[in-house]
Amino acid sequence: MRLSDKVNKMEFSPIRKFNPIAAATEASGVHVYHLNIGQPDIETPDVFMEAIRKFDQKVLAYAESPGLASLQDAIIGYFKPFGVELERKNVLVTSGGSEALSMVFTSILNEGDTVMIPEPYYTNYRTFIKAAAGEVTPITADPDKGYFFADEALLEASYRPTCKAIAVVNPGNPTGTILSKEDMEVICRFAKKHDLWVIADEVYREFAYDGRQMVSFGQLADYADRVIIIDSVSKRFSACGARIGFIICKNDELNSGLMKIAQGRLCCPTLEMIGATALYQLPSNYFDSIRVEYEGRRNVLYEGLSKIPGVKVNKPGGAFYMMVTLPVESAEDFLMFLLEEFRDNNETMMYAPAEGFYATPGLGKNEVRLAYILNQHDLKRSTEILAKALEAYKNR
Ligand SMILES: Cc1ncc(COP(=O)(O)O)c(C=O)c1O
Repeated sequence: MRLSDKVNKMEFSPIRKFNPIAAATEASGVHVYHLNIGQPDIETPDVFMEAIRKFDQKVLAYAESPGLASLQDAIIGYFKPFGVELERKNVLVTSGGSEALSMVFTSILNEGDTVMIPEPYYTNYRTFIKAAAGEVTPITADPDKGYFFADEALLEASYRPTCKAIAVVNPGNPTGTILSKEDMEVICRFAKKHDLWVIADEVYREFAYDGRQMVSFGQLADYADRVIIIDSVSKRFSACGARIGFIICKNDELNSGLMKIAQGRLCCPTLEMIGATALYQLPSNYFDSIRVEYEGRRNVLYEGLSKIPGVKVNKPGGAFYMMVTLPVESAEDFLMFLLEEFRDNNETMMYAPAEGFYATPGLGKNEVRLAYILNQHDLKRSTEILAKALEAYKNR
């Protein structure tokens, strides 16, 4: 018996693969500050649980494959203020943004096709693309330019004839980079020239700081036939365990392809779709206090890190991640030191080493991604631990 070449070519997630080691550290009584994963500590709005509690049907039945109509309608309503007009046929509910990505790559890639992605990228893209027999074509973004990549010359230089799509996360994970409407137009024009799909992952749409106004790729009407929006309740409503996401697409042919997969997997969890419907009916000012909270966290983490000698940090404009260059050769080796050896008052911290966020060999070895999903006090403490651990590591 043998595994597929596809799965053999995949790698474990750098965001999760150190969790067993962290669990062993925690089992020994040490507190670990987890800045490795985008699991927010903000409470899920009550309306989610309340809606599920009110469920009174005697049978927990399958739902329709595209998703509950009530959820589709709530999503359509949510998009109206963004100037994105949708019909139910444009909204496919999925089991998280993760399933949305998997379905899309399965629907558009043939063996050997590639997807252009700015690197560093959200590492699980590589897994979904490889599962669909594709590969990543990286657009290498420069940390010294704030990881900006919406540059025609850079896009053209990165393009290969194998490319079938360009995928962008806006606001970015892991970089926090935000695209303006003009940047989006550069990307869409480039995509049109090379006949590429534009996969616009907007799961962090509300998390834009310093007064920035978010624009959705769905607003670029001229490119509606090639834009595929990936979305999710996970981050927006701090409901990662609900596993509800969706695809917004106005291309009927792609929607028909996606529906074959959607019908094959039957439906998304009925109760969670009921809860998600209530989330999408929340007033838009729900996000105001959340945005302020994350912006405050970003500032605390940025200030803390900026003070550590040798640490280079990019101030992100959105999402809740920060790319950081550490004064070490191997961020993975230093992480093992943090988890297995270093203790400050019986506490340590962890991050996601960024090498796995790059397709280009050799890049990212001394870079890490930090998620500012803890309260300000814990973030301050985490930077204090990082500073002390770097000193101890240097003096070993
Ligand atoms: C950019 C991006 N897209 C998609 C996902 C998947 O989210 P979920 O499957 O929880 O909806 C994540 C999760 O971290 C993400 O950061």
